[in-house]
Amino acid sequence: MTRTWAPETFETGALKAVFGTFTTGVVIVTTRGPTGLTCQTFCPLSLDPPLVGVAVAGDSSSGARLRAEGVACFNILDRTAEPLARRFGTPGVNRFTGLDWRPSPVLGLPLLDRTLAWVEATITDDITVGDHHLLVARVAGLGASRPGSPLTFFRGRFQSLPGDETPADQVRRTDFER
Ligand SMILES: Cc1cc2nc3c(=O)[nH]c(=O)nc-3n(C[C@H](O)[C@H](O)[C@H](O)COP(=O)(O)O)c2cc1C
Repeated sequence: MTRTWAPETFETGALKAVFGTFTTGVVIVTTRGPTGLTCQTFCPLSLDPPLVGVAVAGDSSSGARLRAEGVACFNILDRTAEPLARRFGTPGVNRFTGLDWRPSPVLGLPLLDRTLAWVEATITDDITVGDHHLLVARVAGLGASRPGSPLTFFRGRFQSLPGDETPADQVRRTDFER
């Protein structure tokens, strides 16, 4: 059955129901502190110059810290990282307690385990868009951590893509490492 909403009934629930059908990967964005939060709005934006983006909620304390520090590390999660994504998406818990992390090579920001890849970046633009801030950041360093499949988010639920890396992935990864 198809459901449609008239413009005057654009409630948050309707927006979440529709926006939530757009399947995304999941990142944990970290900065100094250490501080970090789970985000699905990570978005590669440009190759030349190399730019990425993320939208953080206006009432997010971790988002405010990110904006104040001006630097961010995007940890792109693998499918085993759901507990980590939940931890970094829950307010009021000490997210880094007992967690292993190492500093990223260029900016020294928290690199987490259970990532497929990571991008460290310097925030160049901070644009208020409705109830969020769109942060555009220039890539300062990046790496592919290990093979695997991504953690995904669809209709408010964590999921993952089947399978580990294929032979074609291995070739691509070897190219990347060269
Ligand atoms: C899968 C998932 C994706 C999320 N994506 C975003 C996002 O893109 N931007 C955002 O501001 N919050 C996002 N959140 C919510 C934040 O992670 C959550 O509100 C967190 O508690 C914010 O950190 P703070 O409490 O330290 O401010 C997401 C949460 C989950 C579980």
